[in-house]
Amino acid sequence: MALAFDEYGRPFIILKEQDQKTRLRGIDAQKANISAGKAVARILRTSLGPKGMDKILQSPDGDVTITNDGATILEQMDVDNQIAKLMVELSRSQDYEIGDGTTGVVVMAGALLEQAERLLERGIHPIRIAEGYEMASRIAVEHLEHISQKFDFGASNIEPLVQTCMTTLSSKIVNRCKHHLAEISVKAVLSVADLERKDVNLDMIKVEGKVGGKLEDTELIYGITVDKDMSHPQMPKQIEDAKIAILTCPFEPPKPKTKHKVDIDTVEKFQTLRLQEQKYFDDMVQKCKDVGATLVICQWGFDDEANHLLMHRNLPAVRWVGGVELELIAIATGLWKDCTKVPGVDPRKVGKGNKMMIEETKRSIHDALCVARNLIRNNSIVYGGGSAEISCSIAVEAAADKYPVVEQYAVRAFADALDSVPMALAENSGLQPIETLSAVKSQQIKENNPHYGIDCNDVGTNDMREQDVFETLIGKQQQILLATQVVKMILKIDDVISPSDY
Ligand SMILES: Nc1ncnc2c1ncn2[C@@H]1O[C@H](COP(=O)(O)OP(=O)(O)OP(=O)(O)O)[C@@H](O)[C@H]1O
Ligand SMILES: [Mg+2]
Repeated sequence: MALAFDEYGRPFIILKEQDQKTRLRGIDAQKANISAGKAVARILRTSLGPKGMDKILQSPDGDVTITNDGATILEQMDVDNQIAKLMVELSRSQDYEIGDGTTGVVVMAGALLEQAERLLERGIHPIRIAEGYEMASRIAVEHLEHISQKFDFGASNIEPLVQTCMTTLSSKIVNRCKHHLAEISVKAVLSVADLERKDVNLDMIKVEGKVGGKLEDTELIYGITVDKDMSHPQMPKQIEDAKIAILTCPFEPPKPKTKHKVDIDTVEKFQTLRLQEQKYFDDMVQKCKDVGATLVICQWGFDDEANHLLMHRNLPAVRWVGGVELELIAIATGLWKDCTKVPGVDPRKVGKGNKMMIEETKRSIHDALCVARNLIRNNSIVYGGGSAEISCSIAVEAAADKYPVVEQYAVRAFADALDSVPMALAENSGLQPIETLSAVKSQQIKENNPHYGIDCNDVGTNDMREQDVFETLIGKQQQILLATQVVKMILKIDDVISPSDY
């Protein structure tokens, strides 16, 4: 190592062994991996909860995204450390399976890594830590089941569902309008849900954004919106009881694909060609009319002359409609016979501010839709605001004594890691984390009530049941399971080998 100075007199250090230092093995590799994972978790920690911060992310070509959604933050970050990528994957899995809780899962994994680092320093073997964590996660997941509650909802009583979606939306930028958006999300999900099979196909719900307008203008439309004009301005704007022809083929005379040459040297020849083309198209229009179509929706375009003809023959048309929309129209009109769900597609329009806000609103609605879907699949809930985590932490701590000597430390560490979620919530709300956590914890133990959590919004009560803050049981269980799995995986890696290292 040498110390040198640049032309402005600023000192810098030259490391001679720099290029030999890349490959780490054994305990050094584990420690380096843990700190990479922790670094990712640290970024997301401040975004957790109703008072969590948002992040601005800039893409290489200058696009700006503002978001609070954990999975989106990580997705947009250019992470090139392999372990950090595992954390990105973790968040993505939670997003894929559950939709919400993508920040919490990373915060939990970060806390488990931090605890593991301490245990490693005390000389405990990583495998023993991994085993202890596995045991503890099983206790926590079972305990969640134990403290969960069922709630009933039906098409007439959607308020409980709306409340749960509101908890999800309260941590987003759009929380000003959360009741409205939550209600729309629940109604949308219920209208495509199969309550008997307890299944919801979210692909049947389309979220559309339009620049301009206010968040409050967001509305639910039962049907399909295709944001296109009629192909000719003079075609009727409103058609009732339409019979729709859906065309996925070109609606015009076929164009030669290979290179052909047509010599037209006289006016007559030109006229013949024109008439022929016109007749061809006229036949196509006639075929549509013969089957009784009163509206044509085309995937492809047609030229102005054809357009004029359609207008003339009184057959309104829409051109350049996307494949996905065509499919939805086919499902909704019953054309798609093998579709299991009755026609009832409802896309929604998000009217709101600028493009960045629309994107974030769409993501938030996605979270709310997922929560509603999860509740239809399994109507168990646990209370939020960190209350479920605190309750699990108490249960895991109490069970620790039953385990063999070394694993016991890991089980206890797991209990401490669970506390990090309520601590982060308190910290982000401007409360004293340790004081608040210990007060709530002792309240839970004293009154044997798992509903006490962090009063982030300063409502005046810690009882999350009174505050109506709840989350889905499967979402919370998934967070604990996924976080444990990824931490176990990281702990078992003791060598990172890149292609040039063999
Ligand atoms: N009103 C509230 N009071 C207290 N805690 C709340 C309230 N609303 C939400 N929370 C808590 O905030 C946490 C969720 O925060 P947030 O939505 O930012 O992260 P996430 O759901 O883990 O990730 P993401 O929404 O980005 O996928 C949960 O622990 C939830 O219980
Ligand atoms: Mg959330």
